[in-house]
Amino acid sequence: MNETHTVLGIESSCDDTAAAIVRRRADGQVEILTSVVHGQTELHGRFGGVVPEIAARAHAEKLDTTVEEALAGAGLALSDIDAIAVTAGPGLIGGVLSGVMCAKGLAMATGKPLHAVNHLAGHALTPRLTDDVAYPYLLLLVSGGHCQFQIVRGPDDFERLGGTIDDAPGEAFDKVARLLALPQPGGPAVESCAEAGDPARFALPRPLLDRPGCDLSFSGLKTAVLRTRDALVAEHGGLRRADRADLAAAFQDAVADVLAEKARRALAIYLADAPVTPCLCVAGGVAANATIRARLENVARETGAEFVSPPLALCTDNAAMIAYAALERSGPGDGLEFSARPRWPLDSSKPAMLGGGRKGAKA
Ligand code: KG4
Ligand code: ZN
Repeated sequence: MNETHTVLGIESSCDDTAAAIVRRRADGQVEILTSVVHGQTELHGRFGGVVPEIAARAHAEKLDTTVEEALAGAGLALSDIDAIAVTAGPGLIGGVLSGVMCAKGLAMATGKPLHAVNHLAGHALTPRLTDDVAYPYLLLLVSGGHCQFQIVRGPDDFERLGGTIDDAPGEAFDKVARLLALPQPGGPAVESCAEAGDPARFALPRPLLDRPGCDLSFSGLKTAVLRTRDALVAEHGGLRRADRADLAAAFQDAVADVLAEKARRALAIYLADAPVTPCLCVAGGVAANATIRARLENVARETGAEFVSPPLALCTDNAAMIAYAALERSGPGDGLEFSARPRWPLDSSKPAMLGGGRKGAKA
């Protein structure tokens, strides 16, 4: 690893078409030369979730120009790239296939090595790209599509301690926003509505805290919000401003409680191996929530672990993390024969998590 290595990354597993160029310089420093992300929110907005067929077609239409945009942004030609990395799963299969076909075409035409990257590995390795975090670290991935605890020991070495058995927390925030007639994406809307609220007024459940382990569940919490809202509407003929704020605050508090307690349990398992520089890393869109973030930071501090959360642009779906995941590997690549995979658990010793969810499979 003593010469410059430049990787083109391609990501299309959900509703973002992304391409990026990441370089490891001869001195070992890694830099993101460009990271282009084209979202599809306007295409799916009126359907209340990502429509897989629409997403796949939009990726297929946009991938080539997104790659061109990334190359142009870095001032590079395809011939300047040393390797290509593409998300080969898990995700919505049509979108993953679009990216894999594009990347295989580029690899075939140029003869460059091609890496089939696990999308979750991209998220999981981002704290090393942004903060140079040392292995092993504990990762909590919390977004609109994912929720899982992983001990990250190496670029291909993960141990899943638990994950959601139904909705991802971001998905629950989005659904609760809809229930409270707040705009999408729901997370920021619920968070700002909750600022004026009293989290103690409504007693919402803390799902799965009564059971051992690190698995999580958020769909019952969402149903409890629905029931409380319906009771308020029946009583007052509608939702009053204070009702909405109190219910948003109670929901956010319940999510924060669940994540904090499960993080405490996951940290205990992780710390039992006495890592030299213990660190809890939190990635994903929900990590932007100040209440949740503060609660998780406290839990890390209590145990003497560091707390790291990459900047939001690299926490949410992007292709820089895919290119970086390939840079972390030492092998020659995966050839042209690999398949796109709708499910692909990071920890191959454990089965894929259940739960299709609004944004597709969780692992
Ligand atoms: O990582 P991300 O882009 O999701 C996936 O692509 O899976 O994160 C988006 C999710 C959305 O569900 C959004 O509502 C949630 O993250 N989110 C938040 C906040 N900001 C974004 N949830 C809670 N609080 C926030 N401030
Ligand atoms: Zn993702």
